[in-house]
Amino acid sequence: MEIVITDRPEVIAADIIESYARAGKTLGLATGSTPVKTYQELIRRHREEGLSFAECRAFLLDEYVGLPREHEQSYYRTIRREFTDAVDIDDALVASPDGTSTDPLTAGASYDAAIRNAGGIDLQLLGIGSDGHIGFNEPGSSLASRTRLKTLHPQTIRDNARFFDGDEDQVPRHVLTQGLGTILEAGHLLLIATGAGKQEAVTALVEGPVAAWCPASVLQLHPHATVVLDAAAAAGLKNREYYRFALANKPARQGF
Ligand code: GLP
Repeated sequence: MEIVITDRPEVIAADIIESYARAGKTLGLATGSTPVKTYQELIRRHREEGLSFAECRAFLLDEYVGLPREHEQSYYRTIRREFTDAVDIDDALVASPDGTSTDPLTAGASYDAAIRNAGGIDLQLLGIGSDGHIGFNEPGSSLASRTRLKTLHPQTIRDNARFFDGDEDQVPRHVLTQGLGTILEAGHLLLIATGAGKQEAVTALVEGPVAAWCPASVLQLHPHATVVLDAAAAAGLKNREYYRFALANKPARQGF
């Protein structure tokens, strides 16, 4: 795993995403507040530097179950509002799990099939929940899980109530999320975490054991994972000196 500790996580993340966009690769997108600055930086590059997403397609990580697509807080709408409507990606090629499906059990398998049929995800962007979840794979998720229906952890409901007028009762209880096994099939994983609230989860992700109680720790099993942190999120890491040294002495990489 490559650990990058930086004052400008959004610039590092945008540089990585840009290299995949320029090659017309398939992007895995994430919602949540963390990637917003990265999306803003990509939109700036699109407007000011001609960065194009016209050759890309995208798959979203997860979706609430039961919210209509046009609900402001559905991830279908959120990713369009925060990113894809502002760039030149073909809207028909921005896919997300179908949270409106009458059969959410089969909706997960269909989503995995759609990813497979598109040739897989080349770069998957990830945030991390304060309890160590990625996508909506809550603690206890199988490390081999596929896209499926999940019940949210009460902590995630509390965390996400801020997007629903602070009212926990409005937060859907169920979601469809790419599974940990699905996420591990992407070619490159790029996780961004910022702020002291993520410190504990980041320490477990990077330096804890691979364990279902910290779903993000599956990144340790991936051959190409990049974790971009600000100083606050990285503050609990014991091995910081090595991460900085390894980055400064990084061997050149061929291709992706
Ligand atoms: C939600 C999303 C995750 C995201 C997490 C953290 O639960 N499903 O994909 O990583 O929130 O969100 P934030 O970046 O707002 O802290």
